[in-house]
Amino acid sequence: MEGQKDLASHWNNAYKRSSIEKLGWHEEYPEPSLRLIEKCRFNKDAMLLNVGAGATNLVRELINRGFTNIIANDISHEALDELKGLLGTESKKVKWIIDDLTQPTVLKTIEKVDLWHDRAVMHFFTDKKEQNTYFTLLKNLLKPKGFAIIAGFNLNGAPMCSGLRVHRYDKNMLVKQMGSDFELIENFDFTYTMPSGDTREYIYTLFRKK
Ligand SMILES: C[S@@+](CC[C@H](N)C(=O)[O-])C[C@H]1O[C@@H](n2cnc3c(N)ncnc32)[C@H](O)[C@@H]1O
Repeated sequence: MEGQKDLASHWNNAYKRSSIEKLGWHEEYPEPSLRLIEKCRFNKDAMLLNVGAGATNLVRELINRGFTNIIANDISHEALDELKGLLGTESKKVKWIIDDLTQPTVLKTIEKVDLWHDRAVMHFFTDKKEQNTYFTLLKNLLKPKGFAIIAGFNLNGAPMCSGLRVHRYDKNMLVKQMGSDFELIENFDFTYTMPSGDTREYIYTLFRKK
């Protein structure tokens, strides 16, 4: 397993090596995430936390929809710098947090959020300790009645992503991880087409804290 510094370097290099549009997880328009976010019917001042945001276009889409409390986290400063560059002056509307979800420091101290959004991040946490830290942080950070969108490779998904081994999930595995304080509102499988034309099988889940 890579250490914290190596992991940050791995991701910094991934973003340095390739243009954003060629990354194997790039989405021109993050339709499945936006569909689920719409379902949550958030007020415009809801606290929306995007973990492992990378350089996702989701942040721009949320700004365009008038949301005023967006937080973007990533372990990679390169990723967040790229995203800031893409957003230009709009980047001032976002709170930026560089932190490791498996050894969080800053994230532990922020105020509670209405949405935890994760696409293609949690599946990198392959050992129990990392998974426990991730899900504990998620559960602690969400307000009562808050929503969690978690999307990762499903059981038909590839065993690796960005050169790293992944832990694949189905609905029941995620329901178990989230525990009895969360209700599963929706789930679906989704075939994502990479810029290369290859496909990757994802599961999307929307949970609500009781
Ligand atoms: C496959 S990319 C997905 C990026 C983005 N969510 C998207 O959908 O475009 C995985 C992202 O998770 C970030 N990441 C990986 N491990 C992380 C960790 N332990 N803490 C925070 N971010 C992490 C990476 O830097 C990368 O930006």
